[in-house]
Order: sequence, then C-alpha cells, then structure tokens
Amino acid sequence: MDINASVAKRWALLALLGVTLLSQGCQKGEEPVDPYAFNYPDYFPDPTYTFDNNPITEQGFKLGKKLFFDPILSRDGTIACSNCHVQAVAFADAAHPISIGIEERIGKRNAPGLFNLGFRETFIWDGGVTHLDFVPLNAIENPLEMDDDISLVIQKLTAHPEYPTLFRQAFGTDTINGAYFLHAMAQFQLLLISAGSEYDQMLQGEKSLTPLAKTGLSIFESRCATCHDGALFTDQSFRNNGLNASHESDPGRALITAANSDKGTFKVPSLRNVAATSPYMHDARFGTLEEVLDHYDVGMVDSETLDPVFRQPDGSLGIPLTDAEKKALIVFLETLTDRDFLRNPLFFRN
Ligand code: HEC
Ligand code: HEC
Repeated sequence: MDINASVAKRWALLALLGVTLLSQGCQKGEEPVDPYAFNYPDYFPDPTYTFDNNPITEQGFKLGKKLFFDPILSRDGTIACSNCHVQAVAFADAAHPISIGIEERIGKRNAPGLFNLGFRETFIWDGGVTHLDFVPLNAIENPLEMDDDISLVIQKLTAHPEYPTLFRQAFGTDTINGAYFLHAMAQFQLLLISAGSEYDQMLQGEKSLTPLAKTGLSIFESRCATCHDGALFTDQSFRNNGLNASHESDPGRALITAANSDKGTFKVPSLRNVAATSPYMHDARFGTLEEVLDHYDVGMVDSETLDPVFRQPDGSLGIPLTDAEKKALIVFLETLTDRDFLRNPLFFRN
C-alpha cells in the first residue's frame, strides 16, 4: 500500500476528482447523486485521503460496512466497531463514557464520533494514527478494545462462508489480505460525510439561522473558532484547554512526540454533531454542553502547556461568558447536528 503517494500524483487525482464531482453536478432536477461518490460541499477543504489506490466502489463500501458491524474482528467474537461507534450519536459511544472492550475491559478514552474522516490529517485523540487505513488496526490490536491480531482476522475471514465472495466482488481477488481488508474498512468510513446540518443549509442559502443562533455564531467566531476552525470545526491542532493540572495519567500528544510542550495537549475535536455526542472531552468528564461552557468560563486549571488563548490580561484563565452568551452558543452548537446523517439508511447494517 503506497501511503506516501507523491504530492503531484495527489493533485492530479484531486483534479480528476473535481471533474467527477462537477460532472455529478449539484444542478437540481438532474440525475440522482451517486451515493457511493465522495461528494462534499465546496466550502470543505481538500480531502487528505488519496483515493488512487483505493477508489470507492459500491461493493467495497458494502463490504467495509459489513465488517464494521461484525464482531468477527474481535478475539472472542463479541465486539464490533459498531459497539463503540453508534450511528444515532454520530458514530460516537453514548452508552460508555470510557469505552468498554472485550471481556468488559475498560479503555482509556471516550470514543469520538466518526464523520468527515477523509479530510483529517491525524486520527485518535493524540494523533497517533496518521492514515485512515490504519485506524482499524489500532482498535483490533488494542488489548483494551478488540484484542485480536490482524493475521488471525484475515484467517477468520478467509474461512468464512461469505467473505471470500464479497472480497472477490469488491477487489477481484480470491486472496483476502490485510491491504484489501483495510481498504474496504476505509471505503465505508470515507463515505461517512456529514454536511447536512442547519448550519450547512444556511451556508448553502437554503435556510437562515434564528436570531439567537446567529448571536451564538458570532460569539463562536470570536472566541472559539481560533481552534474549532473552518468547515470541519477544527484546525486539527493539539491544544491544552485547561482540564488537568498534571498530565501524568494521560499525557496526550506527548505520548507520540515525547515533547514536554505537548504534555496534556489533545486533538481539537470537530464540533459538528456535538449536541449528539455527549459525553465530552477525551476523558468524557462532562455530560452536557452547559458543563463544557462552564469549564471554558470558570473551570480551567493552569499548567505549563495551557494554551495562551486562555490567559486573560487580568491574569484569569479561560473564556469569560455570560449566561446569555452560553445560551446563545448552545443554540448555535445545536444547529451543527446533521439529522440526515444520524439516520441515513446508507449506513444501516445490511
Ligand atoms: C471498545 C470500543 C471501540 C471499538 C470496538 C472500536 N473503537 Fe474506534 N475508537 C474508540 C476510542 C476510545 C477511540 C479514541 C482512541 C484514542 O484516542 O486513543 C476510537 C477512535 C477511532 C477513530 C478515530 C476518530 C478520530 O476522530 O480521530 C476511528 C476512525 C475509529 N475509532 C474507527 C474504528 C473502527 C473502524 C473500528 C473497528 C475496527 C473501531 N473504531 C472499533 C473506541 C472503539
Ligand atoms: C485553544 C483552543 C480551543 C479554544 C479557543 C476552544 N476549544 Fe473547545 N476544545 C479544544 C480542545 C483541545 C478540546 C479537546 C480537549 C480534550 O479532550 O482534552 C476541546 C473540546 C471541546 C468540546 C468537547 C467536544 C467533544 O467531542 O468532546 C466542546 C463542546 C468545545 N471544545 C467547545 C468549545 C467552545 C464552545 C469554545 C468557545 C467558547 C471552545 N471550545 C474554545 C480546544 C479549544
């Protein structure tokens, strides 16, 4: 698998993709949109995923979806990806603040929602995975999650009554291997595109936000968008937003870089669908958006790596917010819920 495809190749591909997207058109009343095409709004950034060695097909997507819902990927056959990533809550985990793996083993962090993954530079809270294809390995081989081994998974799939046929239909091969397996999983995850919220309808000129949501949007733009930036609502950086005074129990990004300046920093999460993905923060410490805003207002604790944005000129920490501002912010954040995504039958288990 060539994950370091040259930049030139990538641009050529993007150009091609652009042509496909244009020809599939947004003109209303024409041919129906192909549900297996990687379609996204023009205000999204360019995808980071290179599709040249893994173009999305209907068969590949459906195979990836079947695998996503299949506990065969875990050592004892009890846990599927879908146990921890549930569509109704934007593929986050509503049932368990900290995820529970096989034999009820307790993980370390909260499962994030899964959407718009084809635009991401890094994955998981500390950015320890740098390519979407490799995310399933992280779950499958993690002793606290599925505790399996990719080569055993391939053996189980090869001996299965249905999978060999499904791999042949998707990739034209009789040999199931790790690369095809990871490609199928990526195809399913790539099409988890969420861009149909009220906020998107506003951007597309189809709807206007309520006055309160508009007030919330302008507060958001001035105080939150430094980090929760752009169409993805994240600048994809790693920051410390004042959750802990000591970073021993989970050093976050420093686990990957070993840099002191990264201790206690975590990926800035997207806030799309945030009203559906409670609980919040990597350690799931907050159950509601009200609690999150109280944290930004008065709950921050200091440490060396606290983001400078949160140091006020008077020496206080955080982002001061009045009750009225909090209310408006929450009404705005609720406009980021993409109800069509949460119940899109394309993602239902077959
Ligand atoms: C036991 C629960 C559990 C299972 C099973 C599980 N995940 Fe996850 N997933 C998590 C947690 C927790 C994280 C965050 C991990 C971290 O930051 O260390 C995560 C992170 C991810 C991410 C990164 C999201 C982001 O925003 O960075 C993706 C993608 C993902 N999982 C896909 C999958 C796939 C595909 C499977 C099946 C092969 C799977 N997960 C199985 C709990 C789970
Ligand atoms: C300096 C960067 C920065 C600023 C400014 C910022 N955030 Fe965050 N935000 C983060 C980081 C980093 C996290 C994840 C922290 C963690 O889990 O360790 C986060 C997490 C969140 C979460 C939890 C999301 C989830 O899925 O768990 C919400 C909600 C949130 N921020 C809302 C806001 C709002 C509203 C504002 C403005 C009042 C704001 N943030 C300002 C960096 C920032």
